[in-house]
Amino acid sequence: MKKREQFSGNLTVILAMAGSAIGLGNIWRFPYIVGEYGGAAFIIVYFLACIFIALPIFFAETVIGRRGGMDTFGSMKRLAPGSSWYKVGLLTVISPIIILSYYSVVGGWSIHYLLKSFGVAFGQETGHFGEFISSVEAPLLAHTVFIALVAAVVLAGVKKGIEKFTKITMPILFVLILVTVVYSLTLPGAGRGVDYLVKPDFSKLSGEALMAAVGQAFFSLSLGVGTVLTYASYMRKKDNIFLSGVGTAGFDLLFALMAGFAVMPAVFAAGLSPSSGPGVVFETLPFIFGKMGSDAAWITICVSGVFFLAVLMAALTSAISMLEVGVAYLVEEKHIKRSRSVLYLVLFAWAVGLLCSLSFGPLSGVHILGDTIFDFLDKLCSNWLMPFGGLLFTIFVGWKMPSADVLDEFSNGGDKPLNVRIYPVVRILIRYIAPIGIVLIFLNSIL
Ligand code: TRP
Repeated sequence: MKKREQFSGNLTVILAMAGSAIGLGNIWRFPYIVGEYGGAAFIIVYFLACIFIALPIFFAETVIGRRGGMDTFGSMKRLAPGSSWYKVGLLTVISPIIILSYYSVVGGWSIHYLLKSFGVAFGQETGHFGEFISSVEAPLLAHTVFIALVAAVVLAGVKKGIEKFTKITMPILFVLILVTVVYSLTLPGAGRGVDYLVKPDFSKLSGEALMAAVGQAFFSLSLGVGTVLTYASYMRKKDNIFLSGVGTAGFDLLFALMAGFAVMPAVFAAGLSPSSGPGVVFETLPFIFGKMGSDAAWITICVSGVFFLAVLMAALTSAISMLEVGVAYLVEEKHIKRSRSVLYLVLFAWAVGLLCSLSFGPLSGVHILGDTIFDFLDKLCSNWLMPFGGLLFTIFVGWKMPSADVLDEFSNGGDKPLNVRIYPVVRILIRYIAPIGIVLIFLNSIL
């Protein structure tokens, strides 16, 4: 059998996992969710959700992936031979591909806005955000280009594709966002946006905000659908699981906060409402950069270009991780060649994405359980499939695997003394706190 590919070291693992984690969830979703749920107080709750619910699930997935050393099906079969646990793999093949299909649509929007920043029209020229996303050709073309880029990277493999691409893009991404933050902070009136992000007003917190924080943590850390598990299966035995988790979550939070500081000061500087929803990044920012920016038009153009390039890069490294889960499955379980696996999955995701894109326009009248196709799939994944997957992973690691095995994997056979010491806490989080938190999300969604 061909030797399995591996990431080349601890830092690479963290970069790749951070590449998966840091995406539209950070740059597009986080700022508007923070805006909707009241700013600084929400950020604190989000931080707690990351530590108490998201990180334990992250550790559970990494333990399964690295110990199993295969795709989700294969890993589960190895760790629990003879049981039905491997069927969880089905969930992890379906969910990421569905997520990829609508994620790619939004990724396409970032390509459109990137080109638009430089005055290049992509497909037919369109006016405002609403007009653009409800049109037919331009968003579809952008979706197609985006998913083709994703396919190209995954096709190149784990080391030459994913690892290489993330190593190049992540540092660039950091610089790009930093530039936007600095620019945004210098806009007249930016101070109120900063206050909004750092001065908590706990009276605005509601039960709904708590749930939103947990949901955001799930999405942002790519949890519950086997992405982390699959990437962990490319970790070397001597890499440190605890460090990878903390590093990934830390970078993820850092980028989310930076995106917040890029967006909110600009929104306040323009006298707009922080809770203007999903359109805030695509609709409001170009307007703000255009209207309020420096007198020199080229600076405004550059900042806008820099920002949307950042959105695009972040989205690409995340989308890659979604595709890789299914590809690993087809290659390892079905023995289909990598190139074919990529082709099949991308065609499927492209077709579903086509419907998602059209659901903002010609198909906006089509509703599934009261939502448009795009919203339905997003809710299906974010509110149900991801938490459900997370729940199963924590139950598997917390209750099914022997604790000694989990500790062995978590501490590299006792080689990492800090991991050994922290394990009892991690175990309580995995067995009780995280699953109970997820069940609460479900109850909230149902009621
Ligand atoms: N975490 C990514 C983001 O914040 C999105 C993402 C990547 C993802 N892989 C995933 C979401 C798997 C859910 C499942 O944009």
